[in-house]
Amino acid sequence: MITHRPRRNRKSEVIRNMIQENHVTVNDFIFPLFLIDGKNKTSEVASMPGIYRYSPDLILKEIEACMKLGIKAFDVFPSLADKYKDKRATESFNKKGLYLKTLTQIKKEFPEACIMTDVAMDPYSSDGHDGLVKNGEIVNDETLSILAKMAVAQAECGIDIIGPSDMMDGRVGVIREALDDHGFTNVSIMSYTAKYASAFYGPFRDALDSAPKFGDKKTYQMNPANSREALIEAQLDTQEGADFLMVKPALSYLDVIKDLSDNFDLPIVAYNVSGEYAMVKAAAAKGWIDGDRVRDEILLSMKRAGASVILTYFAKEWALKNK
Ligand code: PBG
Repeated sequence: MITHRPRRNRKSEVIRNMIQENHVTVNDFIFPLFLIDGKNKTSEVASMPGIYRYSPDLILKEIEACMKLGIKAFDVFPSLADKYKDKRATESFNKKGLYLKTLTQIKKEFPEACIMTDVAMDPYSSDGHDGLVKNGEIVNDETLSILAKMAVAQAECGIDIIGPSDMMDGRVGVIREALDDHGFTNVSIMSYTAKYASAFYGPFRDALDSAPKFGDKKTYQMNPANSREALIEAQLDTQEGADFLMVKPALSYLDVIKDLSDNFDLPIVAYNVSGEYAMVKAAAAKGWIDGDRVRDEILLSMKRAGASVILTYFAKEWALKNK
């Protein structure tokens, strides 16, 4: 005699929907956008079909279109020509430069949108690293003042959330203090808490032409073999004043998302990165998987693991399909 029949709770769509534990909604998303110089210009990222780099005028149009679909949060990444790159990432504080000028414009036109920015040196660095390079080393403490200056410059544009993605030690605290000193006590910090040295960032580096000019990022980004180390990072970020804890990449690190959500009370964020998007698109284009269903399953897995926010290149297509 079978006394327990879990299948009874799966017998109809009504019951299945009734007992569904996790849901993805458009409110969960932050949509990453790539910014390029020029006018009336878009260029598709070859390794990310459906994802484009936009000139300032067209990024405004794209934000408007997404807002109509219910996407209200965006993370803007700049792609800069080599002539704007130097050792100390000075272009990152240039108020007349492409990035800061466009951010100001975006917030002016869409004050109700939630705009997030990236704090790291790599898009502006002639070395292509997230920190300052000295004698072939990525130096920690000297990088911090550059990151703090970058964060304040972005806050001055009216942005809502600062996203330090550099993995230098102590940066959340230094950025928090700099923001507060400049009166930006309401600007949030979404820390890239557990950011792994991952091959899944490949398409993103193509999009921004931001690959390191030498070596790799293993002295600052985490070893994919480790999970306990993520707890140390999360504890430090919490103490230093982070408002959100992010795990990146997401799909191969769902255990880390779960660990952080079990052990910390701050909202947990999953970054569904470029390579995760590219794999789905490539397999779907070959007809090997059902791309829409795989996308939905992947996003759901991040919610199930404990993420409340998801940065994803799928945001717009998801919103289009679910409108
Ligand atoms: C820059 C940064 C990276 C990503 C977000 N911010 C790349 C890197 O660290 O090399 C990756 C995002 C993605 O792959 O979608 N520090």
